[in-house]
Amino acid sequence: MLAIAAIIYQRQSKHEDSVSDQEKLEKILNALLKIERKNPLEGSPRAAIGYGGCLDVLVNATDILKCDTWDWDHVKPSHHDTIRSYLEFQETFVYFFQHGAAAERYISSKEVWHSLTKASQKINSRREGVGGNAPLMSLRFAHEGWQVLLGAMMSPRLVELLHQNISFAGSSTPEDDLHLILEYPLGAKCGPYEAPRANRFIVHSDENNPKVSALTPFGEALRTYNPHLLIVSGLQMMDNFPLQDEEKRGILKSISYQMQSMGPDTQIHFEMASFTEKEFLEDLIKYIIPHADSLGMNEQELPNLFSMLTYGNVSILSSSNPRVATTLDYMRRVFSMLSNSTGRPITRLHVHTLAYQAIVTKKGSSWKNTMPATAKASLTANRHVCGSSNVNLEKARLIMDDSFSTSQVQQERIWFNERKPVSCWEEGNLDFCIAPVLVCTEVHQTVGGGDNISAGGLILQV
Ligand SMILES: *[C@@H]1O[C@H](CO)[C@@H](O)[C@H](O)[C@H]1NC(C)=O
Ligand SMILES: *[C@@H]1O[C@H](CO)[C@@H](O)[C@H](O)[C@H]1NC(C)=O
Ligand SMILES: *[C@@H]1O[C@H](CO)[C@@H](O)[C@H](O)[C@H]1NC(C)=O
Ligand SMILES: *[C@@H]1O[C@H](CO)[C@@H](O)[C@H](O)[C@H]1NC(C)=O
Ligand SMILES: *[C@@H]1O[C@H](CO)[C@@H](O)[C@H](O)[C@H]1NC(C)=O
Repeated sequence: MLAIAAIIYQRQSKHEDSVSDQEKLEKILNALLKIERKNPLEGSPRAAIGYGGCLDVLVNATDILKCDTWDWDHVKPSHHDTIRSYLEFQETFVYFFQHGAAAERYISSKEVWHSLTKASQKINSRREGVGGNAPLMSLRFAHEGWQVLLGAMMSPRLVELLHQNISFAGSSTPEDDLHLILEYPLGAKCGPYEAPRANRFIVHSDENNPKVSALTPFGEALRTYNPHLLIVSGLQMMDNFPLQDEEKRGILKSISYQMQSMGPDTQIHFEMASFTEKEFLEDLIKYIIPHADSLGMNEQELPNLFSMLTYGNVSILSSSNPRVATTLDYMRRVFSMLSNSTGRPITRLHVHTLAYQAIVTKKGSSWKNTMPATAKASLTANRHVCGSSNVNLEKARLIMDDSFSTSQVQQERIWFNERKPVSCWEEGNLDFCIAPVLVCTEVHQTVGGGDNISAGGLILQV
């Protein structure tokens, strides 16, 4: 009897748990939406966004790869900067897949590239769309009422798909560079490995983007555009691309010059990406990062930048779901190391992770609305991944804990309040905000999430 009673009790309390979980999610969502609604866009601001554009081809990773046919005696997770053979492709894929980490790699073997693109044509779930950081961020800004100048290299067919308020100031190409996006859900299996979270592995074999051919026409249009915000993104296409270091440095210097030619009324944001080439990352730190007011990045890119700034080495892989305290410690260090830049000292840093959004701004800087921006970034994360502008709580869960410490050293704890889900506090001359993400459980797509989320945050801060 007792045992039965215990089971019934357990069932009931489980049921109550799930009801209260649902109520908690609802409170959080309502609070986030309220903050978003209270801060509508004012006026019609202008953003100029470069560089690069492509056609994204999305396929279900496990459908295209057919991992059960792989020779698992030979395929071992390991990292290759550039992919030169099918084995290297398989090894690099599982290396990131087993950790659920997003990555993007250049395939130098045209044979491997063609066999993958050919295989993608047979996949039923195949979808195509505008791709590339600059076009995707442009779309988010335009949908939110901004005017956008886009510096990209795209075919007329792809330019057609843009928004009415995006002016195209790039160069035209007959064929778009194609990016193959291998999406996988949480729990997807590839051989003996299982994905601990939903994510994607991106491969490309670009011809156009790495040369940043949009640079000149974009620069010309920029001269008279006078944007409120300039965004530099998409530079990962040059990473590991077979160009001489000197040639890459020349391109970075031209971009740097474009950044330096902006007046003080233009804020500059740089969106990080998956970089592994040491010399290239060093050059980014030398020519690009010192001229940006604001940086955006994900949970992999933050430790990578930190590691490069601190030790001069590249970090290829980090936890795909880091603790808040760890992220905040990295953010403080990175912020401090970049606050003495001779160009534009950093005044804003946005880190997007699966479980939460974190934005740090410097007091007295011109970034406004940090709390609403963090809330909007969090809502955008769910909307993007679920592929719907209405947040459906049946398809959402909270991964962030009920409390978090603000640092691994200080041990100050902040308790989560579902009626005020965005926690903000001050530390010296910095303002911090953290918002939990209502993590989407029925993933429509992960690719482009960072672009959508970063843009979502910036939209309310300029
Ligand atoms: C991808 O394929 C796997 C295995 O075939 C399946 O479980 C999953 O639902 C598919 N995902 C999508 C987004 O279609
Ligand atoms: C484009 O911008 C104009 C001027 O701000 C605005 O009136 C119009 O609604 C925008 N178009 C779209 C499709 O958002
Ligand atoms: C980089 O170098 C530091 C100091 O030598 C070391 O502690 C760290 O583990 C290295 N990081 C990576 C990612 O190799
Ligand atoms: C930046 O400058 C401040 C004050 O001038 C100094 O305290 C700090 O150590 C410097 N940081 C770095 C990383 O050089
Ligand atoms: C960004 O998210 C919105 C939902 O807010 C979605 O409609 C849109 O398709 C996403 N943008 C891109 C470029 O994927």
